[in-house]
Amino acid sequence: MTLVIAIPGSEDHAGKLARHLGIDLIAPELRRFPDGELYVRLPRTDDHAILCGSLYPAPAERFMEVALIAGTARDLGAKRVGLVAPYLAFMRQDVQFHPGEGVTARYFGKLVSSVIDWMVTVDPHLHRLPTLDHVYSIPTGIAHAARAIAEWVRDQVDEPVLVGPDAESEQWVAAVAAACDAPFEICTKTRRGDRDVSIDLRGRTWNGHTPVLVDDIVSTGKTMIEATRVLRAAGASALMCVAIHAVFADALHAELAAAGAAGIVTCNTIPHATNQICVAESIAEATRAFL
Ligand code: R5P
Repeated sequence: MTLVIAIPGSEDHAGKLARHLGIDLIAPELRRFPDGELYVRLPRTDDHAILCGSLYPAPAERFMEVALIAGTARDLGAKRVGLVAPYLAFMRQDVQFHPGEGVTARYFGKLVSSVIDWMVTVDPHLHRLPTLDHVYSIPTGIAHAARAIAEWVRDQVDEPVLVGPDAESEQWVAAVAAACDAPFEICTKTRRGDRDVSIDLRGRTWNGHTPVLVDDIVSTGKTMIEATRVLRAAGASALMCVAIHAVFADALHAELAAAGAAGIVTCNTIPHATNQICVAESIAEATRAFL
C-alpha cells in the first residue's frame, strides 16, 4: 500500500495528490529542539511512502526535512520512498559559470538521490542540462504546467501572443503556445548580476495580438520587470505576466506595476498569493508512473 506524507508547508499539495491518487495522507510531527535540531515522528507508514512538498522557501532546510522524514519512514517499514517536489530547488547553478564555483545542481542531485528512490517535479529548470538524469541517479518524472497555463491564457486573453524573456524560456513558451494555438516570440536577455538584467526585443511587433509574458521562475522578478518595461516601451498595452514557480525572493508587485504589468499569475507549485493556475492533475499523472 502507498500513502502520502505532507512536508510541512505543503499540506495543500499533498492533500490534492492524495485525493487524485485515492490514497491516504498523513502529516509528520516535526519540530525544533531548543538547539535548532529537528525532531521527527510519523504516526505510521506503508510499504510505499510518497513525501510531497516544494523545496522552497529555505531549500537547504527543506532537504533536511525530506532526508529525516524519509529515514524515519524507512525505519518504520517503508520499502520505497518517493519525493513529489512541485518546485525543485538548486537547478539553476547547473554549470560552473566562473572559476571556483560549485555546480550545486549536481551536488544537490546526489544528496536527494542518496535518500529517495524516485522523484517527480514540475518543469525543473533544465536548460544547459538536457535531462534530470545528468544530476539525479534515481528515476525521475516531470509534470508539465503548459496545459494548465494554456487553459488560463485561453480563458483570460483575447488573441494572445506568448512572449518569453530569454532563450531559456523557449521550451515553456513554445509548449504553452502550442497548447493554446497561439504564436510566440522569444527575446534576448543579458544578465550582469542577480538583480541586473536587460532584455532585447530585437524589433518584434505584435500585429494586433496581446502579449503575455511567460517564464518558468520569478525570483527577484527583474526579468519580468525588465521584459514588461521593454514591451510597454515597444507599444504593448498593459500585459499579464505568467510564471510557473513563484519563488518571489524579492517583493516586486509595485515595481512590476510601475513597469506596466496588468498583473502576475503563477502556478501553485510554491504556495503564494499569485497562485491561480493549478497543476495538481499533471503532478498526479506523472506520479502514477511510480505506483
Ligand atoms: C532564468 O534562467 C530563469 O528562466 C528565469 O528567467 C530567472 O530565474 C528569473 O530570475 P529573476 O526573477 O531573478 O530575474
